Amino acid sequence: MDKLVIEGGVPLQGEIRISGAKNAALPLMAATLLANGEHIFHNVPRLRDIRTMRNLLAHMGAACRHEDVLHIDTSDIHNLEAPYDLVKTMRASVLVLGPMLARHHRARVSLPGGCAIGARPINLHLAGLARMGVDVKLDHGYVIASADRLRGALITFDQVTVTGTENLMMAATLAEGQTVLRNAAREPEVVALAEYLCRMGARIEGAGTDRIVIEGVPELSPSTHTVIPDRIEAGTYMVAAGITGGNLRLVGCRPDHLEAVTEKLQQAGLVIETHNGTIDVRRDRPIRSVDVKTWPFPAFPTDMQAQFMSLMSLGDNVSTISEQIFENRFMHVLELQRMGADIELEGRVAMVHGVKKLSGAPVMATDLRASASLVLGGLAAEGTTEIHRIYHLDRGYEAMEKKLSAVGARIWRKREEE
Ligand code: EPZ
Repeated sequence: MDKLVIEGGVPLQGEIRISGAKNAALPLMAATLLANGEHIFHNVPRLRDIRTMRNLLAHMGAACRHEDVLHIDTSDIHNLEAPYDLVKTMRASVLVLGPMLARHHRARVSLPGGCAIGARPINLHLAGLARMGVDVKLDHGYVIASADRLRGALITFDQVTVTGTENLMMAATLAEGQTVLRNAAREPEVVALAEYLCRMGARIEGAGTDRIVIEGVPELSPSTHTVIPDRIEAGTYMVAAGITGGNLRLVGCRPDHLEAVTEKLQQAGLVIETHNGTIDVRRDRPIRSVDVKTWPFPAFPTDMQAQFMSLMSLGDNVSTISEQIFENRFMHVLELQRMGADIELEGRVAMVHGVKKLSGAPVMATDLRASASLVLGGLAAEGTTEIHRIYHLDRGYEAMEKKLSAVGARIWRKREEE
């Protein structure tokens, strides 16, 4: 196991290239099950979760190799099972369910189980598949599903679900007739997946809106695609510039995927200029405490809540942070408090009383974005911060300590026993 050691207090200066988006690459990889042959993806980040999805696809019979591009050949899929030991490490494994049923008509997928940030059930995925004619059974922690052929259906999601929308959109591409997804997720990653599916021959209208219409087709063909930049990685480094009082240029971004984050950070006192694929971020005034509420895209993303809280810990007043998506996404609060943050929790609302400074301390990562918030706190804190269990961070941030060192951060990855 590794840890990160950070000597805080350095204003970051320089340029960071943003990697491809984990949450765009994962559904694309699952979509390869919809068409036999070699799929080729560019700009795929080198992350733990990508390796897990490759392992899962290989377990099913796909041939995967990730050099400068990611090749996935699904010509020989012969095992329609997603086992617990793989699914338990990554919930997004459930994304293979829709494609397996659409193309192979059978699937045995482990239920993902709980997660640090919430129960995160998949009932909406399963209810949608049932409406498409899938026989769904739960047995010993597994989903056992089968269908002769999926049929198009009208599906209205009780609440917005990103992977639920992705799973059912993929299933509908090969179903008989028309499927309409209402109250669908509008995230850029959903739009990117729809673009790839259409390149494979699918017929999809409305991706990016809350109503997506899919006309089933008899078959799809493999194709190639470039993964969109990671908006959450970009947002994280925007906060890094703000919390250290530095000046960063982020390249290879999609500023249009970050408008709610940009607006909220500008309210907090950051100076942000965007042009094409570049975002310039600096701060030359005290951090202003502002309120934020997480909500599905295009509103402020839950995946930026923990990072934003680190910034608000040094605000000039009190910030109310309301987490509306997950019921337990405040695991980072206890660790930030160890660094001197003054935060009160009331259910899904955190009251963040800004303090003058944070102090370096040994802290524990609990989930992916909580880990990022601790790195941000450590970059601003006086003294040394040690972040343990950073395998959480490695799930979603490509070479974070290298990217931060290159812009002046005093940050090292060390073995736990060191
Ligand atoms: C996706 O998770 C992302 N993961 C998450 O990113 C992100 O936080 C989340 O969307 C919200 O934006 C990937 O895309 C791989 P949801 P997902 O289904 O699809 C409830 C990260 O940090 N719900 O949109 O699993 C659920 O419990 C990760 O990269 C049901 O009740 O999230 C939650 O409260 C963390 N039943 C809410 O809906 C269902 O069947 C939104 O969940 C499905 C969801």
